[in-house]
Amino acid sequence: MIDKIKALRAEIAALQAQSAEEVEKIRIKYLSKKGEISSLMNDFRSVPAELKREVGQQLNQLKTEANERLAALKEALASADESGKAGMDLTRSATPIPFGTRHPLSLVKNEIFEIFGAQGFTIAEGPEIEDDWHVFSSLNFPPDHPARDMQDTFFISREPSDVLLRTHTSSVQTRTMETQKPPIRIICPGRVYRNEAISARAHCFFHQVEGLYIDKNVSFADLKQVLLYFAREMFGPDTKIRLRPSYFPFTEPSAEMDISCHICGGKGCAFCKGTGWVEILGCGMVDPNVLEACGIDSTVYSGYAFGMGIERITNLKYRVKDLRMFSENDVRFLHEFDAAH
Ligand code: PHE
Repeated sequence: MIDKIKALRAEIAALQAQSAEEVEKIRIKYLSKKGEISSLMNDFRSVPAELKREVGQQLNQLKTEANERLAALKEALASADESGKAGMDLTRSATPIPFGTRHPLSLVKNEIFEIFGAQGFTIAEGPEIEDDWHVFSSLNFPPDHPARDMQDTFFISREPSDVLLRTHTSSVQTRTMETQKPPIRIICPGRVYRNEAISARAHCFFHQVEGLYIDKNVSFADLKQVLLYFAREMFGPDTKIRLRPSYFPFTEPSAEMDISCHICGGKGCAFCKGTGWVEILGCGMVDPNVLEACGIDSTVYSGYAFGMGIERITNLKYRVKDLRMFSENDVRFLHEFDAAH
């Protein structure tokens, strides 16, 4: 019997449990009324008198140890549970990756979204790889327009028909007009490509946000009001705007918009080259030919469109001198915008 008790003590000391059910099984096996220890207690009666003292001590020891082991297993399970609840996440990286910062172009893009979002514009997006129709033909570009030249546009293939990288996000306007009925009020953000030599002032890709509003009785005055609101929200409440006549194939009349130089307040400085004004976007009333090309009745509907470069707006706000910084992924540059979050 002594041997049996010793064997049980060793067995109990080595017990492990992964769950509350396993702990309970152990209790039943060893400590319940019909368990191993109780049956040994029953056998104790038949132990010869001269051994009773020793066997009794061993039995008590076994019972104490079994109770202690059970309590320890319960304790271990409970504390494993606790640390789980305290948010221990085993999927976390052992070497945490530090937080990045938002790219300045994203910061400005989000600000543009907010300003136009508040005026009821929703976001529309389209593909960067386009066809001739959506980038040029539907937008009233004549067949011999210089933008269709290899010098200005990246072509992916020319046969059987032109496949190219969009040179502006006006293609998204066409796509929206083809599939939706007026009223349409969208802004189209996205990357555009032009075949230019890369320098501090030009890149072969940049980002635009274009806007389009089509409805009954939309006038140039509506366009001007929306753009004035935008300029003041973006560059401050004292900002003035001026519209100069311009030309785009897809708008008639067309204009370019300047804002009063926010560096010198319009007095004239090196930044605005002494003029007091800086150019920020192109705009105009959507040409009836474009509406018709997209299946919208130009005798019933009219609309305005505008388009701006996000890099240009970002430069005006943060004065980034070299356009190439935007795409070089230099974290030192990106960290300069931490405070702007
Ligand atoms: N699509 C023009 C560009 O890329 C910008 C523009 C959009 C001008 C809408 C007028 C109206 O330069």
